Amino acid sequence: MTTSSTTTGLRVEPVAGHIGAEVSGVDLTQPLSSATVAALKKALLTYKVLFFHGQHLDHAAHVALARQFGTPTAADPHEPGIDPQFPEILTVDPRVDEHRYGEDFEERFRRRRRHFLSGWHIDNSATVNPPAASILRADIVPAYGGDTHWTNLVAAYEGLSPPLRRLVDGLWAQHQFLAGFDMPAHDPQVASILTVINARPHIAEHPVVRVIPETGERALFLSPSTTSHIVDLTTAESAHLLDLLYQQLARDEYRVRLRWRPGTVAMWDNRTTAHLAALDHSHLNVQRRLYRVTLTGDVPVSPDGRPSRVLSGELFTSSGHPDGSGPTGSALLPEQAAGRC
Ligand SMILES: [Fe+2]
Repeated sequence: MTTSSTTTGLRVEPVAGHIGAEVSGVDLTQPLSSATVAALKKALLTYKVLFFHGQHLDHAAHVALARQFGTPTAADPHEPGIDPQFPEILTVDPRVDEHRYGEDFEERFRRRRRHFLSGWHIDNSATVNPPAASILRADIVPAYGGDTHWTNLVAAYEGLSPPLRRLVDGLWAQHQFLAGFDMPAHDPQVASILTVINARPHIAEHPVVRVIPETGERALFLSPSTTSHIVDLTTAESAHLLDLLYQQLARDEYRVRLRWRPGTVAMWDNRTTAHLAALDHSHLNVQRRLYRVTLTGDVPVSPDGRPSRVLSGELFTSSGHPDGSGPTGSALLPEQAAGRC
């Protein structure tokens, strides 16, 4: 239901049945009052993704906005951002990838998906503490095509039958960058990507169901782009169960779709949502450039209180690495080609 606040001036209007609200009555380029920040945090817990239109932030204002909601991470766990002045900003632009990997890079990458739903992802789920939230702003976007979709992972969990919920409550899954894609090392294009990833690999085991501390909600914490398998099941069992769960999390009724305009900002809870860009614009020869900042997240916790485990890597924080050196990839990774925000 649409709510308006006389204290903060915020108007929050839900745009789909399970997820998503459009927020107006706020200027994100300016410092926000503590009441506004609290109201937006509450709306984020309820609606999982918030949309703001007509907000023309530059990099400094984007980072300043993020700092009011948490601690920004480095742009990426593997690679530095493009602009050294703003190490928190990740540029989402296929032309950056095409410049490095060839014109048809995006299409070739899409063909590597192991599952039809492999484009869905949770940002940086291969780290042991995936970002708590992501804030993405549109700079240059096509008039049509390139929409982003989000799905509510709490609704997806709650939509499972009780016996299946009990089963997944006790399961764990391994997450690794690009696990949802076929990446043969003999392919020169793949080899250059793997070199950067393997210089500092991030591999984590997360509970398939994570509990959100503020609400007690349970989310189906699976990322088709980066979940490799369910731990302790056979390979065939894992593949079949993941297929079922991926179809569950991508069901139409749990989703919302955003058509970007220049100046649109989307802020999502990266613990309770997965997202996907439709990639229906690559044949249109149009530009799509967005910028993202992610907020440092907690280590997920299972329903029985156990935290995620690190198999490789370290906490994903503002410095990128505990030694403070930051990400050191020598080539920029097609991070978002895994599903693009
Ligand atoms: Fe993303």
